[in-house]
Amino acid sequence: MLSRQKRVVLLALGIILFHGCFADEINKKSFPNGFVFGTGSSAYQYEGAVKEDGRGPAIWDKIAHTSGQISDFSNADVAVDQYHMYEDDIKLMKDMGMDAYRFSISWPRIFPNGSGRINQAGIDHYNALINSLLDHNIEPYVTLYHWDLPQALEDTYNGWLDARIINDFAKYAKTCFENFGDRVKNWITFNEPHIFIINDHEVSVGRYIAGHNVLLSHMAAFKLYKRKYKAKQNGRIGISLDVPWYVSSTNKTKDIEATQRAMDFQLGWFLDPIMFGDYPASMRTRVRDRLPKFSKHQSAHLKGSVNFVGVNHYTTWYALDNSSSIIGTFFNDSIADSGSITLPFKDGKAIGDRANSVWLYVVPGGFRSSLNYIKNRYGNPLVIITENGMDDPNNPFISLKDALKDAKRVKYHNDYLTSLLAAIKEDGCNVKGYFAWSLLDNWEWTSGFTSRFGLYFVDYNDKLKRYAKDSAIWFKNFLTPR
Ligand SMILES: *[C@@H]1O[C@H](CO)[C@@H](O)[C@H](O)[C@H]1NC(C)=O
Ligand SMILES: *[C@@H]1O[C@H](CO)[C@@H](O)[C@H](O)[C@H]1NC(C)=O
Ligand SMILES: *[C@@H]1O[C@H](CO)[C@@H](O)[C@H](O)[C@H]1NC(C)=O
Ligand SMILES: *[C@@H]1O[C@H](CO)[C@@H](O)[C@H](O)[C@H]1NC(C)=O
Repeated sequence: MLSRQKRVVLLALGIILFHGCFADEINKKSFPNGFVFGTGSSAYQYEGAVKEDGRGPAIWDKIAHTSGQISDFSNADVAVDQYHMYEDDIKLMKDMGMDAYRFSISWPRIFPNGSGRINQAGIDHYNALINSLLDHNIEPYVTLYHWDLPQALEDTYNGWLDARIINDFAKYAKTCFENFGDRVKNWITFNEPHIFIINDHEVSVGRYIAGHNVLLSHMAAFKLYKRKYKAKQNGRIGISLDVPWYVSSTNKTKDIEATQRAMDFQLGWFLDPIMFGDYPASMRTRVRDRLPKFSKHQSAHLKGSVNFVGVNHYTTWYALDNSSSIIGTFFNDSIADSGSITLPFKDGKAIGDRANSVWLYVVPGGFRSSLNYIKNRYGNPLVIITENGMDDPNNPFISLKDALKDAKRVKYHNDYLTSLLAAIKEDGCNVKGYFAWSLLDNWEWTSGFTSRFGLYFVDYNDKLKRYAKDSAIWFKNFLTPR
């Protein structure tokens, strides 16, 4: 038997622990006032309707229909049919209590041929989507380029490899500002240029040229908005960059330096020009004359050409020095050029739990570190988390009931949001919004339908019906706490 005194002490301890538990439970109210919560998507992964209402072909139509390119032999001709089902999907966002929705406009819906003639049906579609979002009090965040380049521009001049694309992108951006900017106040010029350039341009000097043209296209759109639309429309412009975190494998100087180079060649490649007007020093010294140069004029206009930095963060890997003495010159390869090796293992042990995607390891603390890196290197700019999430495999053998039990995803979002909150409250990182990737399961590029990133399950065998996973219910409780 415990003495009465001891029991009182234990009871007090119990109350403290109990309260501790609740203090740890985060919800929307834990975040600063005005912090925006939303879900994200992209046109190619969601819309389908690729041949409807005058849409022109996109490069991904061709990739998806080339044999051997997509792991489950699927294509995105129908995808999850958001082109037709958007009103139902907006109800799902509303039901969770989301403030905002990030989607992308399909360039070949607006300009079927890349440039020239505008397709009014494409304009009408996005007007209807935007109006329906606003009717439900959901703020649109609109990406202009999420990888679905009009095939015509690839055929005519090799897309991003040719500087003519800058003008065509600016015309497309202008058309969007003009038609939608009265209601759209948050624009994202590009989604993850680093990834689409690495994927679209195999090992070759072309990567640096394509990246250069993307940066100049971003700059052209930013300048145009500032000059012609900003005063009247009063919106803001950002760019979404893939921002992993890299942890040095060892404390050796050469590995710590290689870890910095890994960040330079991934994030710095795009964010340094936008913040400072030039590529990182490590890129300039290692890539030398294969790296295009900005003129003084371009450099001046690039510097400061965002109102917010969009951060797509999923994972953390290790980095170490590549001791090979040949830097990438021979291969013209940005990964070899960086002289760093990045991998999710050390001594045969994974850095965290793996999701379905081979690259996605769960390391919540890396989120906070990457946000502190941005704060420290770039002067604490305004950041919106434009993507964060994890995927489960599409397992055809489990019941619908079991597929909706996504405890791993609930934990992922809880832990990453906790890490984000610490970055904001304890470290002073200037983050004002968070978009979970993704609203629905969808077509995951070359992984086809094998990967499920959604808060909502999509039944590919039954009319693409949507079902709330436990994570959707978790978000509903998080966003509308009792
Ligand atoms: C599409 O664009 C290409 C090059 O810009 C041009 O040659 C062609 O005539 C255009 N086709 C149509 C149908 O507008
Ligand atoms: C690498 O770039 C150089 C200079 O632009 C070029 O001469 C060479 O052919 C390229 N090599 C490869 C393998 O692409
Ligand atoms: C590097 O040093 C820090 C501080 O002394 C230590 O916490 C960390 O574990 C070390 N990392 C490695 C990989 O040895
Ligand atoms: C190390 O660098 C060499 C030469 O540039 C390259 O061929 C190799 O792929 C790199 N190793 C890794 C693991 O990235």
